[in-house]
Amino acid sequence: MSFPIVVLVSGEGSNLQALVDTVHGTEVEIVGVGSNKPDARGLERARAAGIQTAAFPKRDYAGRPERDVALGDWIESLGAELVVLAGFMEILSPDFIQRFPTRIVNVHPTLLPAFAGIHSIEQAFNYGVKVAGVTVHFVDEGVDSGPIILQQAFELPYSRDIAVVEQRIHEIEHELLPRAVRLIAGGKVSIDPSDPRWVVIDE
Ligand code: GRF
Repeated sequence: MSFPIVVLVSGEGSNLQALVDTVHGTEVEIVGVGSNKPDARGLERARAAGIQTAAFPKRDYAGRPERDVALGDWIESLGAELVVLAGFMEILSPDFIQRFPTRIVNVHPTLLPAFAGIHSIEQAFNYGVKVAGVTVHFVDEGVDSGPIILQQAFELPYSRDIAVVEQRIHEIEHELLPRAVRLIAGGKVSIDPSDPRWVVIDE
């Protein structure tokens, strides 16, 4: 039986595409792709792959909590076991996070806890880091602060071209996020009962 996931996007959707190309239709099934932006390129990618889509722009609701209830209802109606934030650029309300405990993951383009929040690649680059990387983590109520599932680092080339760095980061993301989803789908990821920060990977 395949493991149903929903992916949430706000923009380009290259991480969604990586999931479509690598895990979708294997032991994992992407049962829906949602967005806060009705015109997100990620939604087009999902439709092209024959995956159901829905848009939940905040302006259609009284506020974020109401929007997040509708989003959560949609996710539950699809029977998703995991919510993957793949470039979803809005904070989700605490009630939404609590509705899916250790069932939401995010991909972030730095080695957390360094450079959380937005424009993180630029933040790291402008700081002058010599090692960069990618994090996949569970989502808690903070900003990029949940328990870390996987990280991968690389040394920066002696290049001051941020485009080179961004390209390498995206390549790593497209490998690391599907790997994390596969591990979760395979039941190989859990939180240490005695330490809520520690993610146990049973590969
Ligand atoms: C990625 O860099 C991801 O780490 C960050 O947002 C970006 C989304 O890119 N959270 P894409 O929409 O998947 O191409």
